[in-house]
Amino acid sequence: MSVVHQHFRKSPDPASRFSSAARNYSSSADIQWITARKLVARLPGKSSPADILDLGCGTGILTRMMAHRYPTARITAIDSAPKMITHAKREAPDGSVHWITADARSFRLPFAFDLIVSNAALHWILPLNTVFERCKEHLSHGGKICLALMLDGTLDELRGLRERIAPHKAPKTRLPSPPDVLVAAHSAGLALHEFEVETVSVVYPDCRTFLQCLHRQGVTGGSAASRSGGLNRGELVQLASEYDRKYAVPSGGVIATYRVMFAEFINPPAT
Ligand SMILES: C[S@@+](CC[C@H](N)C(=O)[O-])C[C@H]1O[C@@H](n2cnc3c(N)ncnc32)[C@H](O)[C@@H]1O
Repeated sequence: MSVVHQHFRKSPDPASRFSSAARNYSSSADIQWITARKLVARLPGKSSPADILDLGCGTGILTRMMAHRYPTARITAIDSAPKMITHAKREAPDGSVHWITADARSFRLPFAFDLIVSNAALHWILPLNTVFERCKEHLSHGGKICLALMLDGTLDELRGLRERIAPHKAPKTRLPSPPDVLVAAHSAGLALHEFEVETVSVVYPDCRTFLQCLHRQGVTGGSAASRSGGLNRGELVQLASEYDRKYAVPSGGVIATYRVMFAEFINPPAT
């Protein structure tokens, strides 16, 4: 069975799914590398935070950038997928990061952070207000949370074709909208400092490679896909062929677009 054929068919829980993907994740995480770099470029430059937490760290793409950017900071990184943490430790073997396997909705640590960051993870960790409540509990007063997450509208090319080819199997869930994120953070007591929504495009050699890449990132085959039913081989072949035609770019390859929210919230200083 080809990798593309497996696409949309598996439905393990997110931690198992991401654990299974951990080995190939860093080399397939093209969009996550892009958004991590953009997130780091937006971070406060002048002062260096003493304690930083990376939520949903995966194999540590953003975590390692943070360690490079703030070499004197103590950095903690958590992820619910044990194998993501195993690979993160392997990819950053110098021991400078404190890696923890934990759920971002329920973790408890005995100290507070000046800065919490998260890249391409929070849209997987629902409900968002629960995650923001944990963040608020773990932020010092005046501390910040800076995040990048995917919004509704991400991969609309794929979603649109899939809905047309197999309307009865359309995914039943959607990614958060900007108001979903803003309301969840506000209800947890965090104050909005700034946010921006950016469309980021990635070009892949063809649709098949694109789907394989998603599969290797561990982002396919979740509960949404299993509830709606996986595409069969014929539907996948049709999808790939139409995608290659419809979303070809003149320079070669096909385009996939991600709608990314960059946001910064503050834990208001104590009054
Ligand atoms: C697409 S990856 C992003 C990883 C990393 N931040 C990066 O930029 O490459 C999403 C990560 O969120 C993690 N995750 C999903 N649900 C989680 C939860 N409830 N608590 C902690 N991590 C979670 C997954 O295990 C996965 O490693």
